[in-house]
Amino acid sequence: MLKDFETISDLAHPLPYDNFAPWVGQAGNVPGTTHDMSTAETAAVILAAGMGTRMKSALPKVLHRIAGRPMVGHVLDSLRSLNVERTVVVVGPDMDEVVDVVAPNPTAVQWDRLGTADAVRRAKCALAGFDVGTALVLYGDTPLIRPETLKRMLAARKDKASVVVLGFRPPDPSGYGRLILDDAGGLDAIVEDRDATPEQRAIDLCNSGVMAMDASRMFEFLDQIGNDNAKGEFYLTDIVAIARKHGRTCAVIEAPAEELMGVDSRAGLARAEAVWQRRRRAEAMEAGVTLLDPDSVWFSHDTVLARDVTVGPNVVFGPGVTVESRAEIKAFSHLEGASVGQDAIIGPFARLRPGAEIGQEVHIGNFVEVKNARLATGVKANHLSYIGDAELGEGTNVGAGTITCNYDGYAKHRTVIGKSVFIGSNTALVAPVAVGDGAIIAAGSTVVRDVEGDALAIARGEQVDKPGRAPALREKLSEAAPKRSPEKSKRRKVRS
Ligand code: UD1
Ligand code: MG
Repeated sequence: MLKDFETISDLAHPLPYDNFAPWVGQAGNVPGTTHDMSTAETAAVILAAGMGTRMKSALPKVLHRIAGRPMVGHVLDSLRSLNVERTVVVVGPDMDEVVDVVAPNPTAVQWDRLGTADAVRRAKCALAGFDVGTALVLYGDTPLIRPETLKRMLAARKDKASVVVLGFRPPDPSGYGRLILDDAGGLDAIVEDRDATPEQRAIDLCNSGVMAMDASRMFEFLDQIGNDNAKGEFYLTDIVAIARKHGRTCAVIEAPAEELMGVDSRAGLARAEAVWQRRRRAEAMEAGVTLLDPDSVWFSHDTVLARDVTVGPNVVFGPGVTVESRAEIKAFSHLEGASVGQDAIIGPFARLRPGAEIGQEVHIGNFVEVKNARLATGVKANHLSYIGDAELGEGTNVGAGTITCNYDGYAKHRTVIGKSVFIGSNTALVAPVAVGDGAIIAAGSTVVRDVEGDALAIARGEQVDKPGRAPALREKLSEAAPKRSPEKSKRRKVRS
């Protein structure tokens, strides 16, 4: 028993992404301690003990990512708006990575994979004291479940159903448990595919695996489940027949098959990603964002786009991007960990990396990369530049090919550029270096010292002109060059 408690995660553990655990941070809420359960309405158990052999991965299945977030994180996120009192994630042995990712939610270990009923029973310790209200069971590898669907299930539970099962009608029902309804449309039993008769296999209404159960009876019913079946496993699905035997009502709520898609393979992961992206694109447009070619835009789970943002084709949003209103992200741009101010124009073919803070009306053009740099209002860097570890003041213009040389092979250094500075094309700014307000840097300069405000800095080799020397040089070069075959010279002449 105590083994389960050993895995309760460190409450101080930092989350790899946003904080989704509502009950956490209050020591009194640690399961089995002083938390007052009288107000508890809903708890959740997420089954994640499967390694997912078909993923062919060293990573536990539920840590594979959809839109940059582990699948189990999506499930936790769906629970967030439900006011869930406590969520326990059931993991397999040696799944410390999952424990870390779901922290500070508690975890319970299922040492032997004895079936879905056994997996839920492993959560008993972590749910100690939670014996009223509803226990939701979800799968960590079914990441597209919507909060609205879970809310419909909770409502059906309040309507006196002891067990509410989420059903769906997949295009191919084989392999799934079938839902056997009674004459009144209530749920009578769930029969696993392997144990079903041919008549039962003809039923297309299937068990998604998601269930909402009366928490006060759940563990008592689970204890009555046996393993006398085709797989020799303790099937959670048997809880329906047991609840019925005790005179309880069971019900089915249906949801679209797409939402209940489980991920078993890399191909399934890609299909789930595609569904998620399609949803997100629709949401963005619904919220007032123009997507010129929706199908080619890729979002991260946390992308924030304000109204009237325009996004061109083939734009990729990595994690941590915020774009303010009326900004335009043109085709083939890649953004990650960046904020873009109002009316800014990014791309085409721009790359914004973590720490890029792009101010209002800034223009970032083609083949410009910005990393860990703040660009104030109206800065323009339109062509072929690298701006890293830098600060650029209002109205500064960065010429084509300008590079901040921020790295000396050991450490990163900053470049600080003032307001209304003009940086000529092909300038190398060797950091640490500062350029004052209003300065002009001549094209082709390699700037190694600070430049004062309003100064003109020219840091390049002097130009030397030698009148009439070009023809003589040409003659010398052609004599020194290897001789061409007459055939090749003929062809060359024809072409020119
Ligand atoms: C299960 C259901 C089936 C349903 C299908 C939907 C049972 C008996 N059957 O079948 O009715 O149609 O899901 O996808 O519940 N898991 C554990 N520990 C275990 C066994 C499973 O944590 O001992 C977890 C798995 O990691 C997975 C989930 O539970 O996330 C479902 O297990 P899986 O083996 O895929 O069940 P199915 O046979 O697909
Ligand atoms: Mg399965």
